Amino acid sequence: MSDKTLIRGPFPATRMRRMRREDFSRRLMRETTLTPDDLIYPMFVLEGTGHREAIPSMPGVERVSLDILQQEARYLNQLGVPAIAIFPVTSADKKTEDASEAYNPGGLAQNAIKAIKDAVPEMGVITDVALDPFTTHGQDGIIDKDGYVLNDRTVETLIKQAVSHAEAGADIVAPSDMMDGRIGSIREQLEASGHINVCILAYSAKYASAYYGPFRDAVGSAANLKGGNKFTYQMDPANRLEALHEVALDLQEGADMIMIKPGMPYLDIVREVKEQFGAPTFVYQVSGEYAMHMAAFEKGWLSKETVILESLKCIKRSGADGILTYFAKSAAELLNS
Ligand code: PBG
Repeated sequence: MSDKTLIRGPFPATRMRRMRREDFSRRLMRETTLTPDDLIYPMFVLEGTGHREAIPSMPGVERVSLDILQQEARYLNQLGVPAIAIFPVTSADKKTEDASEAYNPGGLAQNAIKAIKDAVPEMGVITDVALDPFTTHGQDGIIDKDGYVLNDRTVETLIKQAVSHAEAGADIVAPSDMMDGRIGSIREQLEASGHINVCILAYSAKYASAYYGPFRDAVGSAANLKGGNKFTYQMDPANRLEALHEVALDLQEGADMIMIKPGMPYLDIVREVKEQFGAPTFVYQVSGEYAMHMAAFEKGWLSKETVILESLKCIKRSGADGILTYFAKSAAELLNS
């Protein structure tokens, strides 16, 4: 008996495999494409010159001084990567309870913005608006005597930080702190200070994720994270509707773009946010996602090049317009080769 007699339904009129048979038809029906235009490269920056430091939990990612940041910016521009997101590694002596270093016009983040713009004026520069690199306790805001992060007091400082980034030449400020009302307050002060075209990328749905571990090692905020978690402001990974609520508020307050973070375990949220709001939607494939991929590549358990591109393509398929990823440089190299 041939197979055919046992198969019912629209077969053989419909054979899904016909279109998969040849490369040309696979290309013609491909729904999602990944290009360097989709990528944002996060970089950890250090004071000084000629410095590079490895980050043990993020093999292949380094903290670099501003001269190396400039070289990297030139190279990323050649690769076609549109933007860099900078994260300053602040020395312990500059950290305070009130995080005043966050808005120092001569601070490391501010200098890093200028360094990139001097080297490659057309490179998009995105800055992180949050206080954790600058507080002695590693929380994203200013705390009271019980360690609770004070919302409104923190927002006042975030406004100053965002405006100082804009003054230094940032194109996009990205509040990743999850305080209430910060998008509207920052927008208002950007307008008032003449920075009407500086965009806000709101980390609207930022979850209290354990996938951020390696990042906290990279910026040196892990050791002193008082309280051990950020549950009173970042979102519970169990929640979906709350993310939609957060996105709605941030868009209403004036966000130009929104971020979902982390990436791969949260793609259901990305899909829903993109469908409901249609706004420019970005995904942060975070440090822990990078670390677990790298661990598997180093062990020879996964094939590096193909898995990197697959992971990013799938994030795009979920509805993302772009991806902030530590793989941005290697992915752009692969896409250019
Ligand atoms: C700080 C910030 C964090 C990340 C980006 N900005 C850490 C945190 O919220 O604890 C994490 C990024 C990553 O894991 O790659 N506000």
